Amino acid sequence: MRADQPSLTALAVALFRARMERPASPDGDPGADLALARSLASGREPGPAGEGSGRAALRAWISVRTRVIDGAVVRALASGVDQVVILGAGYDARALRFRTPGVRFLEVDHPATQADKRARLAELGRDVDDVAFVPADFTAPGLGDALAAAGHDPGRATLWVLEGVLRYLPEQWFRALPAAAADRSAAGSTLVASVTTREPDGATGRVGHEDGRMAEIGEPVLTVPPRAVALAWLEEAGWTVEEVVDAADADPDAHPGHLVVTLGRV
Ligand SMILES: C[S@@+](CC[C@H](N)C(=O)[O-])C[C@H]1O[C@@H](n2cnc3c(N)ncnc32)[C@H](O)[C@@H]1O
Repeated sequence: MRADQPSLTALAVALFRARMERPASPDGDPGADLALARSLASGREPGPAGEGSGRAALRAWISVRTRVIDGAVVRALASGVDQVVILGAGYDARALRFRTPGVRFLEVDHPATQADKRARLAELGRDVDDVAFVPADFTAPGLGDALAAAGHDPGRATLWVLEGVLRYLPEQWFRALPAAAADRSAAGSTLVASVTTREPDGATGRVGHEDGRMAEIGEPVLTVPPRAVALAWLEEAGWTVEEVVDAADADPDAHPGHLVVTLGRV
């Protein structure tokens, strides 16, 4: 993660996600994603024409994880959860899309990306007064204190969203981040996380190809464990696996091993 520039992977995800049909809450701002994406796209060269297989796979992966995570947000709000923490939020606009009276959204992200997002939202005139923005680096301690200072209450259930982040962290911090969330999670809390995994024999396949491109833009892919190892790490962090969706089972265009994992805190 480069300290001096907003995340380009976050930008790419936002552009892919912007035109999806998605739920929103009655008080939500469903246009915020598209407005942010338009702001991000302005002044940029259009991407390569057409839809190669890598692009289709990425689109499928983002679409599957967006659906699963939106579903988790809708369920959490319906069940009365009133704290949603989005870890590595990037240009995710769920805090606006799912705005609900009495529900506190907290967005945690690397300072460079968060500052850029906030500036864009202000320019777009989007109301974010009810969102807590918490700048943090997940490769340093202190997340718990930062959340406490921002008003997160560990005594009440929380929905944690961790999308498209873990593979960019060294193993130590890949494992520490879900543990930090578990430490602040009352019974009834949920963590929904996307995780890129590889075959147990060490073959990286297409993930290896992606790795090269990510390194070039300053966001190298650092941790891609086999599925069983990833799930074991999440359980060791204090969570219980409730559901695993492999994107390839949900959409044949997606590459296998891209998982959306829903975990509970008992
Ligand atoms: C692929 S983007 C995903 C953004 C968003 N969750 C989404 O799905 O649209 C990765 C995000 O992880 C954040 N990130 C990566 N490494 C980080 C670190 N060490 N500390 C804090 N945030 C980090 C980036 O700033 C970026 O917002």
